[in-house]
Amino acid sequence: MSTLSEQNLSGGEIPYDESDFNSIRNILKEKSGISLSSSKMRLVYSRLSRRVRLCSLPDFRSYISFVNSSSGVEERSCMIDALTTNVTNFFREKYHFEHFAQVVMPEIINRAQKGEKIRIWSSACSSGQEPFSIAMTVLDCFPTANKYDIKILATDISHEMIDFCRRGVYSISETESIAEDFLKKYSIKTGDRIHFSDDIKKLISFRNLNLLESWPMQCQFTSIFCRNVAIYFDRATQNILWRRLADALLPSGYLYIGHSEKIAMETAPDITPCGCPTTYRKDI
Ligand SMILES: C[S@@+](CC[C@H](N)C(=O)[O-])C[C@H]1O[C@@H](n2cnc3c(N)ncnc32)[C@H](O)[C@@H]1O
Repeated sequence: MSTLSEQNLSGGEIPYDESDFNSIRNILKEKSGISLSSSKMRLVYSRLSRRVRLCSLPDFRSYISFVNSSSGVEERSCMIDALTTNVTNFFREKYHFEHFAQVVMPEIINRAQKGEKIRIWSSACSSGQEPFSIAMTVLDCFPTANKYDIKILATDISHEMIDFCRRGVYSISETESIAEDFLKKYSIKTGDRIHFSDDIKKLISFRNLNLLESWPMQCQFTSIFCRNVAIYFDRATQNILWRRLADALLPSGYLYIGHSEKIAMETAPDITPCGCPTTYRKDI
């Protein structure tokens, strides 16, 4: 068995071998659902060596014992954070927001005005661009939305991401995909940053939630965005997730998934592709 430190790879002075890699893969899979292929051995080293040093531990073996111990629970979260992919963008997969504005929002407005509770879920929201894009779309279609019982629940496994989201502050360079009039209406520019307005922030509740664990929400959702996270799970974990999401949708609610994800008919026969890419509608 070769060790990276023996191969003198960059920054490779912390002992790390295949059995360490396999232990980390197993913890990650068990706690977050993310499956890493064997080609990711170096990536794991480069993402975690800093954490091993920060914990003042001599090698990966001691680090693994620590994250498996009761005093290492917080570090285990940091380890998962360091290994997840948080790539996202405002209005990513734009067709979902067009569909949401044109098809879903008229139903939402109608039901909200009748006094119904409306809940929308952005379920792996990363650094928040997805729920903020939903909130801008809601307010654009329904400027008085805050007077009704409408909320966007935005969740992620990462505590760090959720803390970042709550600030509602982004660098201007990240906002290219936001239409100019949306930026003007829904944010304030200060220096090289934008701050989302209180009207936008009021619509969103940010919470930490692991999709693999139990979901505390009592309500069913009008729409669920679960995009570009299941791609990191194995097929069995994906199927369990799709089934649970279908159950969490209200009849005739919509589920938006990532561009390279797909739900097999047998997994959730009560949700059907609705014509917009990677968008499913629950039966009435
Ligand atoms: C690539 S981002 C997707 C962001 C956004 N949905 C989008 O499509 O742009 C994947 C997110 O899934 C989160 N994640 C990974 N495993 C998770 C789990 N088991 N439960 C909840 N979130 C998870 C990661 O922390 C990361 O922020």
